Amino acid sequence: MAATRKDEISAILKEQIKGFHYDLEMEEVGVVVEVGDGIARVFGLQGAMAAEIVEFPNDVYGLVLNLEEESVGIALFGGSEYVQEGDEVRRTGRVRETVVGEELLGRVVDPLGRPKDGKGPITSTKTRKAEIKAPGVVERQPVNTPLQTGLKSIDALTPIGRGQRELIIGDRRTGKTAIALDTIINQAGKGVTCVYVAIGQKTSTIARVVDTLERHGAMAYTIVVTAEADDPTPMQYLAPYAGCAMAEYFTYKGEDAFVVYDDLSKHAVAYREMSLLLRRPPGREAYPGDIFYTHSRLLERAVRLSDEHGGGSLTAFPIIETKAGDITSYIPTNVISITDGQIYLESDLFNQGFRPAINVGISVSRVGGAAQIKAMKQIAGDLRLKLSQYRELEAFAEFSADLDEESKAQLARGDRLMEVLKQNQYMPMPVEEQVVSLYVGVENHLADVDVSEVRRFIEEWLRFLHSEHEEIFDELRGGKEFTDSIETQLEKAVSEFKERFGG
Ligand SMILES: Nc1ncnc2c1ncn2[C@@H]1O[C@H](COP(=O)(O)OP(=O)(O)O)[C@@H](O)[C@H]1O
Ligand SMILES: [Mg+2]
Repeated sequence: MAATRKDEISAILKEQIKGFHYDLEMEEVGVVVEVGDGIARVFGLQGAMAAEIVEFPNDVYGLVLNLEEESVGIALFGGSEYVQEGDEVRRTGRVRETVVGEELLGRVVDPLGRPKDGKGPITSTKTRKAEIKAPGVVERQPVNTPLQTGLKSIDALTPIGRGQRELIIGDRRTGKTAIALDTIINQAGKGVTCVYVAIGQKTSTIARVVDTLERHGAMAYTIVVTAEADDPTPMQYLAPYAGCAMAEYFTYKGEDAFVVYDDLSKHAVAYREMSLLLRRPPGREAYPGDIFYTHSRLLERAVRLSDEHGGGSLTAFPIIETKAGDITSYIPTNVISITDGQIYLESDLFNQGFRPAINVGISVSRVGGAAQIKAMKQIAGDLRLKLSQYRELEAFAEFSADLDEESKAQLARGDRLMEVLKQNQYMPMPVEEQVVSLYVGVENHLADVDVSEVRRFIEEWLRFLHSEHEEIFDELRGGKEFTDSIETQLEKAVSEFKERFGG
């Protein structure tokens, strides 16, 4: 029915237009033949490029998505109620682009760079293409500088390097957003500009995020890009590309940038919805066939540029929300395969109070290790070994009543190490504090501390070092090695501290 009508209308229009300046006009201008569900079909516009922005009357804009023989499929960026059959549509010649620049820092904007925070206009006149071809091998250099998250279990066990793509994956309410926000908060004074992209979230959730970042002074170096659940799907689709472009502006100026896509599961759903409305053939799980490419070309833009290209970096944390822990469904497996590592969050751990709820046994970072500071690298090596022994024993201990003394001691140490890895939200920790916290666990100085007392012990241990032995922190800062001298000083400090802690 709809198709016949569309054909009829095109035929009539063609007839009417015949004899006019047909060739020239139809290149640049088109006529709406059908509109609904945020999608317009347009006759004409034969010169339009894929992904070009086109203009309707009443300041409505759309994105060219389907180039077909008879018509062009266009997704509208809102305002579809103002678009009617017979309306004229004009090319803009611009492939989708967004406003970029320092002016966006501290602001909440939509994917076209328009303000959403009521704080007045954004004065930047700089724009950047929302989509670019990812840099090639010659423009890149290996990841060699850490991006500190401030979270012990990540910085020690799945360290992130500037330029890396690390996936944060887990069910809802497992602390995925919390990890991203803590990482942003931890970038204060580190010269890393942050972009938080919220896709398909509730307005109230985003307001909480912005409030959190503001309270921790992080909005000064952060841009929040949002396309909410009730925004048109093309906006939600465009959001991560636009956020990426806003971050890239800093990268290609030779600076360091960090972008969070929260989350790509909702992004995939928005793209599926849009594609179904455009009547593209659905594939696996009804997602369009190019969904993998949609995500890979976004994530490939994470980069550490070579010095000849300015040496800037773009680190990306895509987030994926799983259902009932299923990481084998289509979108999770896709994104797992196009990232340099994954941080797996689990509801069970979260509910047991092990937070951040990271499964440290299966989480990986394939490139960040090269970027760890030396002292952390040394401690982390020991930590990884002790934790894997602990996990093996734990599984074994379930079936055996009497364990030998050594195994019992290893289990006890593991229990305490797990306590040391726990960390409250909004309390990112500088790397030198992480090193001395993990040190007491790895070196078994917690053996005589009750598990329930471990967190208090660590807090007071850090306070003690700051007041009595700041020189140890001074030595550890700045990427220094974990020397015998530091170890001797630490050993002395531990005995000193333990006398006080016990008494
Ligand atoms: N390390 C943590 N310690 C305590 N509470 C946390 C921690 N991480 C997250 N939370 C809390 O758990 C809830 C879910 O976290 P959130 O990051 O929103 O989860 P997700 O993004 O996975 O849905 C929030 O209320 C958050 O404040
Ligand atoms: Mg979240």
